[in-house]
Amino acid sequence: MPENVNPKDLLELAVRLADEAGRLLVQERPRDLGVADTKSSPTDIVTVMDQRSEKLIVEGILAERPDDAILGEEGSDRQGTSGVRWVIDPIDGTVNYLYEIPLWGVSIGVEVDGQTVAGVVEIPMLRETFTALRGDGAYRNGEAIRAYSAQSEGKPVPLERALIATGFGYAARRRAVQGEIVADLLPRVRDIRRGGSAALDLCSVACGRVDGYFERGAKPWDLSAGALIAQEAGAKVGGLYGAAASDEMTVAAAEGLFEALCGFLEGHDAARDS
Ligand code: IPD
Repeated sequence: MPENVNPKDLLELAVRLADEAGRLLVQERPRDLGVADTKSSPTDIVTVMDQRSEKLIVEGILAERPDDAILGEEGSDRQGTSGVRWVIDPIDGTVNYLYEIPLWGVSIGVEVDGQTVAGVVEIPMLRETFTALRGDGAYRNGEAIRAYSAQSEGKPVPLERALIATGFGYAARRRAVQGEIVADLLPRVRDIRRGGSAALDLCSVACGRVDGYFERGAKPWDLSAGALIAQEAGAKVGGLYGAAASDEMTVAAAEGLFEALCGFLEGHDAARDS
């Protein structure tokens, strides 16, 4: 750990800024909010509120830690010299936010020397704050959480009784493949959920609100905080064939189900786009 870096202090700052951004997003959302810009496809949108939230968080970090690196979904890409990097999704679930579906949040992960050590996912409309410090467990509103649903009774849930969350990319071609895979998975599981926020999906694994999650195409800012929170809650988080979680594929579930889900996805060559 570099000198003058205390993960607890980093988490405290992350929690404060996620809370401030969350309040900004609730209180100052224009009634006639529209799309300010598009990115990878016409449905991959940015609103002015994504930009304002990222600005608030970046300014808040730099006011206290001017030597840190920052990666943000809406364009922040700053080099640093301290060994600390902040990975920010100023609104994860932007389409939900635009449509006033309450499943969206602010996600801030903090890396030290390339390893995520602290993370917060703030879900204002559910009044839920998920936090984790590496090695110190995961929490929702300050209470410890575990990655087992009530139905699992603390044991691995077999695939056929698992409630599985997933997400879809913005490119039509990739979506067609994702649709095929979900169509084949649906008869083999309890059910599927598509919530619309990868960070919240990972936190839902962490608190046992779903049994597992997988997605192709989730980006570092979608994953950074939520992956640490899910791991610290006892879930396994990774990619296929033993790889690390990445935008190629991210899978999260308690041990046993994780392997079953990976086996299904590997058998369907799920990390493909055609
Ligand atoms: C998206 C959400 C969605 C997931 C997409 C993400 P954004 O993030 O997390 O659930 O399926 O892969 O891009 O664009 O709302 O920040």
